[in-house]
Amino acid sequence: MNLPIRPRRNRRTPAIRSLVRETVLSPSDFILPVFFHEDADDTPIASMPGCTRWSLDGLVREAGESLAAGVPAVVLFPKIGEDLKSSTADECHNDDGLVPRAIRALKAAHPSLCVITDVALDPYNSDGHDGIVRRNERGELEILNDETVEVLCQQALCHARAGADIVSPSDMMDGRVAAIRAALDAEGFADVAIMSYTAKYASAFYGPFRGALDSAPKEGDKKTYQMDPANAREAIREAGMDEMEGADILMVKPAGPYLDIISRVRDASTLPVAAYQVSGEYLMLKSACAAGWLDERNVVLESLTGIKRAGADMILTYFAKQAALWLGEK
Ligand code: PBG
Repeated sequence: MNLPIRPRRNRRTPAIRSLVRETVLSPSDFILPVFFHEDADDTPIASMPGCTRWSLDGLVREAGESLAAGVPAVVLFPKIGEDLKSSTADECHNDDGLVPRAIRALKAAHPSLCVITDVALDPYNSDGHDGIVRRNERGELEILNDETVEVLCQQALCHARAGADIVSPSDMMDGRVAAIRAALDAEGFADVAIMSYTAKYASAFYGPFRGALDSAPKEGDKKTYQMDPANAREAIREAGMDEMEGADILMVKPAGPYLDIISRVRDASTLPVAAYQVSGEYLMLKSACAAGWLDERNVVLESLTGIKRAGADMILTYFAKQAALWLGEK
């Protein structure tokens, strides 16, 4: 064939392929979500094989290993005892609670580690919702927006006092980024950043996570606050609001099934974009690999490359430590 243009020339050798590669994963792209509890033992999580609910000591060790592999950040997900849950979620801003103690322990052991906290009420709420719940005259559950935002501000302040670098509201209440920013600034925490769950969808892919924390809603679903998976323009609207309200980083969640949203948010804002490869995405890959149907290293790195290629500057992934170790082997 007389073909002057042959794209395969750029794929001929590993050296050439490395020169033309557009997207390169690095351990510094990753944030490791970590589960932990009050107990002294490290417990495997049944709904997320390969993940552990750590003791505080285990948490500090795991974060250290992940940091040593090159992962700069962790995001904290506590499992709170049933006896501490209430309909007002007061435990979420207890300065002696599990999360503040974890932040202090992590910062003491690993001063260079970036500690990110989840700001939402679900682990603390006896109703299992991210916000305060009320039953209206018609007997329906309502998730109260403005009342919830007040508690979220208390929670964010509690995390900031304990030394969190970044607070990450995952609740999807309206106006919470501005309120948290103002609360942090008023208390002298102007340096604490906000990574906002900007486009968090009401996704069935969160199932294994709720199993890990025992945090599933007792009644109803999260569709009145989390976004409809069918909507894309709405994500841009949320992104514009979060940016104006003072968010430092915008997040899209889940990641894999929402690559178009990552790409559109990337184009719509100059802020850094994070994407969360959630528990259901983890489980799909993990279970197919455990069955021997897919090659774990290759599919995990490919899935993360796809998320970065779509426009994510950073990826929250349960594979963070493992992926960083794989990248280090090359
Ligand atoms: C709670 C929260 C959830 C996740 C992160 N923060 C669950 C939910 O919204 O129901 C899901 C993470 C995952 O599935 O990996 N605010």
